Amino acid sequence: MISNHHQSVMFNESIDALNIIKDGIYIDATFGRGGHSQGILDRLSDKAKLIAFDQDLSAIEYAQDKFNDPRLTLIHSPFAQMHGIIKEMGLSGKINGILMDLGVSSPQLDNSDRGFSFNNEGPLDMRMNQTSGLSAAQWLASASEEEIANVIYEFGDEKKSRHIASRIKRFQLEQPLETTLQLANIISEVIRGYTKKHPATRTFQAIRIFINQELKQLSDTLEHSKKILAADGRLSIISFHSIEDRIVKRFIQKHSRQKSLPKGLPIFDQAIEKMPFKDLGKQFASKEEIEFNKRSRSAILRVASKNQL
Ligand SMILES: C[S@@+](CC[C@H](N)C(=O)[O-])C[C@H]1O[C@@H](n2cnc3c(N)ncnc32)[C@H](O)[C@@H]1O
Repeated sequence: MISNHHQSVMFNESIDALNIIKDGIYIDATFGRGGHSQGILDRLSDKAKLIAFDQDLSAIEYAQDKFNDPRLTLIHSPFAQMHGIIKEMGLSGKINGILMDLGVSSPQLDNSDRGFSFNNEGPLDMRMNQTSGLSAAQWLASASEEEIANVIYEFGDEKKSRHIASRIKRFQLEQPLETTLQLANIISEVIRGYTKKHPATRTFQAIRIFINQELKQLSDTLEHSKKILAADGRLSIISFHSIEDRIVKRFIQKHSRQKSLPKGLPIFDQAIEKMPFKDLGKQFASKEEIEFNKRSRSAILRVASKNQL
């Protein structure tokens, strides 16, 4: 049976952060199962618009089936293409807020045929967008041992990356590496003994991030948000691991800190450069939410507001 349940993380905090204008135009960059989208729609008037993206066709099909709201436009696309699409819609510079709830949804993790989970046997796929690109199995078959080790180290912070990559290549000499449990078992043979998390956690995360180009997607979209957002438009971004959060943090800091001005100039000669964003800080999930939904434990919400330039 296909599971469609996804518990939205930091639901109120992330939607409050959008500071919703009733008649505004908003983007949910990561529709998933539409929890946040519904929350945004509930605060909008009949004149408002919500444009929702997801690169996973099953998320869009779910939305087409369950959401019948004329204010909602669904787009099956990676969010990194948002800028071109919004421009074509004539809405560049008119968006009042963008919400991003990064990473994978529970249905993606829970449906074993998607290949994201090291606990359930399934094809080693891991693509959010199954209509394009290489599956994890195809990539692991074509990449060199060094490339694999680098990805596992860079995106998973896995100290045993070289050892794992070498075991993967040795396994492939005997038989094709095609399933999630084959990969999880290879990793468990390398990382023995007690670990708090499953030994395959970091490697699966790394391969998933690489296969879906998650970090590039995120940094490109942050850059594009400067053109997409209207004055006072908000960015509300939930991330779940430190590499992602660092990208968001650095982007907001870089675009909100006043550059130091040349010393010694009289104040009226100093060109005061206005920065594109105001940093509105970060928040974590409440204790109550963490108790109720373990996934929220690692969530960090960062918020910024676009300045009038
Ligand atoms: C954590 S879930 C979002 C859950 C959603 N906020 C809810 O309340 O149901 C993340 C979703 O974003 C999608 N996604 C992740 N990266 C994406 C990208 N670069 N472009 C488009 N969709 C993406 C995934 O396919 C997944 O469905």
